[in-house]
Amino acid sequence: MTTDTTGTVARDGEPRPGGPADSPFVRACWRRSGPHTPVWFMRQAGRSLPEYREIRATVPMLESCRRPELVTEITLQPVRRHGVDAAILFSDIVVPVAAAGVDLDIVPGTGPVVAEPVRTLADVERIRPITRADVPYVDEAVRQLVVELGDTPLIGFAGAPFTLASYLVEGGPSRTHAKTKALMYGNPELWHALCGRLSEVTLAFLRVQIEAGVSAVQLFDSWAGALSEADYRRYVLPHSTAVLSGLADAGVPRIHFGVGTAELLGAMGEAGADVVGVDWRTPLDVATHRIGPDKAVQGNLDPCVLFAPWPVVEAEVRRILEQGRAAPGHVFNLGHGVLPETDPEVLTRVVALVHELSHRRADQG
Ligand code: CP3
Repeated sequence: MTTDTTGTVARDGEPRPGGPADSPFVRACWRRSGPHTPVWFMRQAGRSLPEYREIRATVPMLESCRRPELVTEITLQPVRRHGVDAAILFSDIVVPVAAAGVDLDIVPGTGPVVAEPVRTLADVERIRPITRADVPYVDEAVRQLVVELGDTPLIGFAGAPFTLASYLVEGGPSRTHAKTKALMYGNPELWHALCGRLSEVTLAFLRVQIEAGVSAVQLFDSWAGALSEADYRRYVLPHSTAVLSGLADAGVPRIHFGVGTAELLGAMGEAGADVVGVDWRTPLDVATHRIGPDKAVQGNLDPCVLFAPWPVVEAEVRRILEQGRAAPGHVFNLGHGVLPETDPEVLTRVVALVHELSHRRADQG
């Protein structure tokens, strides 16, 4: 059970009725029924919102992640505007890696760029283990947010070892992950040393967020879909398992997400997830079949559908809610992050529609 510094969890371990641990979002993650299907959006805090663009106009990305007052404000923006069922901490997957001593920056329009890509064991050993003292701004922001959010749950997150390793080995975003795979196949010992170190950093980073009061965590393995199932199991699964299983006693649901992972859904669930994220390529009923009946699912609206006329969006929302009923728990979300050009009004309408349709269904029994 988590340390109860926040009132999220009552002393006897039962969630406070109506509190964040009893929210529709957390209930769905634990496969418990709730008043409606919960909905939030990956990258809900970001460039689709004019109020976000205004704040970020003069502050670089990494700096904004290190200023608790900005993190708090940006995290709250989509909750205020859309009425989503959960907030996600405003940060980035490379924040803990930078705290561990890696020289990197987030370049607008490109993404994370690493000054000296990892090539040797000495490079791996320079990635230091982290503690709360290395990320005080995250601890502080989460504590502030838990107070501001009240009964709305806050999701903490981190990047999974493979996706982080890809940025560190490539030096930046990559379409093919060629250098990453070359290292993985060519020098498995170094690969496992790198992923082992990254899983320690990630686990410590998620523990800081849990101790500060987040109600759930999501492990983003955005690029894992670049691997076959056999290679995923051999080179990646042990490290993601170290992170997720390392949180088994934490008392908060663990979401595991990737893109293009149709073939990996079962394995990603095995890593120790309570909820498996599904992109738009696999219908939720099919995904549930692959993942098994003991895990909830999250997803799977194509972010590009939000650019279609409203009747198309509505039909897709209906289809996903319907197919999501095959799962023991469903958190409505996109299959990947909100694209910057998205009209935020459409997101607000999707939230209202998900709530309305899933309520009606419950009323009808
Ligand atoms: O609302 C949320 O989901 C929380 C915020 C969040 C960000 N990054 C903020 C951000 C989250 C969860 C992330 C995780 C992240 N970062 C992932 C995993 C999720 C995914 O999208 O697959 C990855 C792969 C990254 C790495 C990264 N950081 C990329 C590819 C980019 C985009 C580069 C660009 O400019 O197009 C970033 C930068 C970033 N992280 C932005 C935001 C809001 C954009 C920076 C800006 O506003 O200038």
